[in-house]
Amino acid sequence: MTKRTLALSLAAALAAAGLVAALAPITGYAETSGGGPLKAASEFSSIADAKERSKAIFAEASRVLTHPRCINCHPATRSPTQGEDMHPHVPLMIAADSSMGPAGLACSTCHGAENRGIVGSRLKSIPGNAHWQLAPESMAWQGLTVGEICRQVKDAERNGNRSHADLIKHMGEDHLVGWAWHPGEGRSPPPGSQPELAALIAAWVDTGAECPD
Ligand code: HEC
Ligand code: HEC
Repeated sequence: MTKRTLALSLAAALAAAGLVAALAPITGYAETSGGGPLKAASEFSSIADAKERSKAIFAEASRVLTHPRCINCHPATRSPTQGEDMHPHVPLMIAADSSMGPAGLACSTCHGAENRGIVGSRLKSIPGNAHWQLAPESMAWQGLTVGEICRQVKDAERNGNRSHADLIKHMGEDHLVGWAWHPGEGRSPPPGSQPELAALIAAWVDTGAECPD
C-alpha cells in the first residue's frame, strides 16, 4: 500500500468517525462492579469459603475483561467495536475470513506497530500493536454475563486450548492485553495494571477457578 492510499483510507475512516456520535452504543455487555482501583486478591481474604472467594476474585478481574479496551476486540460478531461506548468500528470492519481483516483491508493498513498520534483531529490517536487482530469467534465476550465469560475463558475448547497456567501467562504477558494499559491518547486504560490482573487470575486459579453464577 502506498502512502497516498493509506492517507486516503485514513481520511475516509476519520470522516466517517464524525458520524459515530449518532450511532447507538452496543448494550448488554457484562456489568462491572463500579469504579476505583483494582482490588488485590488479599482484599478478599475475609471470604472464608474458598469457592465464594474464587468467584469474587474473578468478578473483580472481570472489571478489566469487560473494559472497552479489552472487549472492543472481543466482540459478539466478527466486527470490532470502538471507543468507550463500544460503537461499531468505523469504517465497518468484518473479520469473517481472517482475524487480520478482509483481503485488501487488513487491520495493519491502519493499525501500525505502535499507537500513532493524529494532529488536528477529534480522534487523538490510532491504536497500534504489531499483533493487532480481532479475537477469534470462540472468544467473543460482548453480550455475555461475567459468569458466562468466566466459563468460556476456562473452557479449553473455546479459549485456544489454554490450561489455567496458560491463562495466567496470557493475562500477564500477552502484547494485546498489555496494550490496554498503553492505549494511546484519547483512550482510558482499564483499572489496575497488567501484573495486577495476572496476580488476580493466579489467585482465582489457586482458589479453584470458580465462576460467578
Ligand atoms: C487488538 C485486539 C485485542 C485486544 C485489545 C485484546 N485482545 Fe484478548 N485476544 C485477542 C486475540 C487475537 C486473541 C487470540 C490469541 C490467541 O489465541 O493466540 C485473544 C485472546 C485472549 C484470551 C485467551 C482466552 C480467551 O478465552 O479469550 C484472553 C484471556 C484475553 N485475550 C484477554 C484480554 C484482556 C484481559 C484484554 C484487555 C486487557 C484483551 N484481551 C485485549 C485480541 C485482543
Ligand atoms: C481504514 C482504517 C482501519 C482499518 C482497516 C482497521 N481499523 Fe481499527 N481503528 C481505526 C481507527 C482510525 C481507530 C480509532 C477510532 C477511535 O478510537 O474512535 C480504530 C480503532 C479500533 C479499535 C478500538 C480500540 C478502542 O479500544 O477504542 C479496535 C478494537 C479496532 N480498531 C480493531 C480493528 C481490527 C481488529 C481491524 C481488522 C479486522 C481493524 N481495526 C481495521 C482504523 C482502522
